[in-house]
Amino acid sequence: MNFDKLEFGKYIADHMLLCDYANGEWQQPQIVPFANLSLSPSTLALHYGQTVFEGMKAFRMDDGCINVFRVDKHYERFARSLDRMCMAIPPKEIFTEGLFKLIETDKAWVPKQAGASLYIRPFIYASEAKFGVKVSEQYRFVIFTGPVPDLFASPIKVKVETDYIRAAKGGTGFAKCGGNYGGAFYPTQLAKQQGYDQVLWTTGQENPHIEESGMMNVMFVINDRLVTPPLSDSILDGVTRDSLLVLANDLGYSTEERPVSVAELEKAFRDKTITEAFGAGTAAVVAPIGTIHINNIDYHLPGYSHENLLNKMKLKLERIRTGRDNDVHGWNCITG
Ligand code: COI
Repeated sequence: MNFDKLEFGKYIADHMLLCDYANGEWQQPQIVPFANLSLSPSTLALHYGQTVFEGMKAFRMDDGCINVFRVDKHYERFARSLDRMCMAIPPKEIFTEGLFKLIETDKAWVPKQAGASLYIRPFIYASEAKFGVKVSEQYRFVIFTGPVPDLFASPIKVKVETDYIRAAKGGTGFAKCGGNYGGAFYPTQLAKQQGYDQVLWTTGQENPHIEESGMMNVMFVINDRLVTPPLSDSILDGVTRDSLLVLANDLGYSTEERPVSVAELEKAFRDKTITEAFGAGTAAVVAPIGTIHINNIDYHLPGYSHENLLNKMKLKLERIRTGRDNDVHGWNCITG
């Protein structure tokens, strides 16, 4: 395995964790060699979409230890997503101890290269084989992992989308369920055909407000303040989003979690008060945005250097994760 030529989502470590839920109980978790799953074509998840996943990362610290970032916060979100989808929630011990055992087993897969990490993909699907439309009574919990590179993204072009929405009030937008991602592909494909990398999701046609960027939370620097839409039932409670809000404060910046209208963004470009825009997520950490298309106009951000807040925050996060700076917020979960 050449850790210098990683690609996101391509390589998978040797083992996986399996744990089944049946007769109202979680069974004993097992760590087994990574292999295909065997499913009945009538498996409920394949038809009615009871599937939920998480995305986490383990980092190699400077002293060689392995650090899984913010396990508690990921578990809490996993539980909230599962609850929304009427799915069984594995106890925290199964999640945490299983995860650590799996990473210990495959620790050779945690890259040493700066910025690279072992991506951890816990997921649960409704495994009952029955095609009647119902809440499943059986679930399978799986965790697998795979090494991923630092995504040194050059600034992307995004298109403000008001005809299609990612999530509606009262819907499942805050949950990390598979359908939220599948439903986003079509408008994203349209945006790509028009020359954009991602969609900047909004609340829709009437007085649109910004929601998320692609598969990430979105943040702006306006008047030197870090601004991001507030959490709601249509916005994912991103672990990176939360971490960056804390780090921005630590770095002396004011932060604002408040609604951001598309009209406000247009004005901020006209007044030149917006200096940064970026996606924030576990996979990319920060994904700088270079261009935002609003109402037939491409607005350009000034460009990025080490002085930008997004780069300062990314560096700070990396220093905490590798043990170079003090983990004052207690985010690191260090294993041997
Ligand atoms: C992340 O940014 O980590 C996400 O959740 C996107 C994921 C589907 C790769």
